[in-house]
This record gives sequence, C-alpha cells and structure tokens, in this order.
Amino acid sequence: MNPDTAASPDHRPRVLVTRRIHEAGLQQLGEHTRLEVWDGAMPPSREELLRRAEGCEGLVTLLSDRVDGELLDRAGPQLKVVCNYAVGFNNIDVQAAAQRDVAVGNTPDVLTDATADLAVALLLAAARRLPEAIDQVRQGRWKTWEPLGLLGVDLVGKTLGIVGMGRIGLATAQRLHAGWGMRVLYTARDPKPDADSRLDARHVDLPTLLASSDFVSIHCPLTEQTAGLIDAEALARMPQHAVLVNTARGEVVDQDALAAALEKRQIFAAGLDVTTPEPLPPEHPLVGLDNCVIAPHIGSASQDSRRRMSEIAAQNVLAGLRGEPLPHPVSTGEAG
Ligand code: DGY
Repeated sequence: MNPDTAASPDHRPRVLVTRRIHEAGLQQLGEHTRLEVWDGAMPPSREELLRRAEGCEGLVTLLSDRVDGELLDRAGPQLKVVCNYAVGFNNIDVQAAAQRDVAVGNTPDVLTDATADLAVALLLAAARRLPEAIDQVRQGRWKTWEPLGLLGVDLVGKTLGIVGMGRIGLATAQRLHAGWGMRVLYTARDPKPDADSRLDARHVDLPTLLASSDFVSIHCPLTEQTAGLIDAEALARMPQHAVLVNTARGEVVDQDALAAALEKRQIFAAGLDVTTPEPLPPEHPLVGLDNCVIAPHIGSASQDSRRRMSEIAAQNVLAGLRGEPLPHPVSTGEAG
C-alpha cells in the first residue's frame, strides 16, 4: 500500500449521542470526537444502547436511557463523561458513575423559561377547560353561546403553591405573581430569601401548601423522597376548585389516586406534561378524563432551549474528555 494514500487512524475519542439532538452541539462534538448519533425515531433498545456504548469515552444520553452500573461497565474504563440532554437526571445512577470516576453533567438554566411557560400554559388550559372547548368546535358540537357552558376557574388574586422552589419553580411563580397577582406559597428544603423578597412568597410545609393553594405546580426532582409525594392523602387536602400541574416527573404523582380524585371531582382539574409511563397508553384512565390535560413531555421543547441544551451537552462532554471540571455538573439540590 502506498503510505502516502493510507488513511491515518482516527485517534479522537469516541462519543455516542443516543438520539439526534440539535445540530449546534453535534457540530461542536463532531469537530473534536469520533461522533456516533443514534438516528432512530425511537430510543435505542437496551441491547443496542449497551452495544453502542462499548469503547466510548463520552455519552450524551436522554431521559429515556437508563444509565446504570451495567451500562457504565459495558462502555468500559475509558469512559470519562456522561451528559444528560435534560435538567433532570433521575435516569442516571450518579453514585455508580462516581464510583467509576465518570463525570455526570446535565443541561440546566437554558430550559427554565420554556418549562415555566409550559407550566403556566397547562395551568391556564386546565383552569379554563381549553381542550374541552377546542374539541367542541372541532367535533361540530358548538351549538350556541352558552351562559353556563364550559365554566372554568379564575386565576387573578388566587394562591399558587409551588412544590420544589428551584429555578423552574421560581420562574413559574414569577410569571403567575407578576401576571395574575397570585400569592405564592412554596415547599423547599430551605427557605428561599430571593423568592421571599421578590415575590413575597412564604415557605410552608406540604400539607399547608396543599390545603391553602388554588393552584399547585410541581417542580421538585424525582428522588426516593418525592416518588408518590402527591398521593390520595395529599390530593384529599386540596380544595375542590384546585388545579394541579406537573411539569417535573410523572412518578411524583400517584396517578391512580389522581384519576380517582379527578373522576370524583374532588379537585377541579389537572395539567400534566409528565406521566408514568411515557408515553401514557391511550386506554389509561387519565387520558379519557375531560378535566385532565396531558401534553407529551414538551416542557423544554422550544427551539432556543433545545439548541442551547445541545450546546451545553457538547461543552460538558468536551470538558470531561479533557479531564476538566464540567461547566454544568449535576447537582443534587432543588430541581430545575
Ligand atoms: C428535563 O430537562 O428534565 C425535562 O424533563 C426534559 O427536557
């Protein structure tokens, strides 16, 4: 073989991205790594994921990928960094990664506004029964202006309860306090002086929040402590006119209890961007309820957020490959 024409081996680190994400971050990664992108419309199967991770030094994963000891071991000892293309990272066994010296990052901040916007949108849609109203028009059931039809609940001057006052909780509270004059209550591990001074918010315990709020919006991370936090007992504390919104993780809410509460009109409505499982099967009781608005986990699905998430994922992975601290390491503090 002519040595001048022989291709030189590519020694750049191998990186796997488990779905096609925004091009901005892929371009940055492609300049410095041997990049492989899983191009399927659906996530890779477990087997496929394990196989493709083998020999990688960096991984960009999605919340649908379970990153545990098995995956980290299959990747191999050269694996340096995993970045979740999300702010939440409950799909990653952070301890297993630390034990193997693998840095773990996420993509916070850049999706705060998009997710808070969606929380407000779901709150409004559930409170004002928008999907029911839209269906009525689409299905030709709009007969006349009805004095007592499709009555919703008002927002102005009501009380908002934020479960988990992290960045997204705060951004949601800011919107509803500034726009609708809502009084803000919140739960968090510690009081948030910023929220208290800027929004005149009050740090309370969960039972107080549930009993005193007209709207409850969930923003806590999914942990052992928060799984099933909003159960039948919690729902029973909420007033009958209350609206529950969840843009955090489906597992925080006991869905059977929620379906029962909505069916009995024990609370007014719910707006969910997250469910267990995802996707929620169409035959699930929550799907058929007219007072339950469900979106397919689109909190961060805005063009700017997804572009910036991909850039941050690339920055995290490239820093990890260089052995530098990640610009956005995961933090086990408040969600969002
Ligand atoms: C997150 O970032 O955790 C959202 O749930 C998906 O963007």
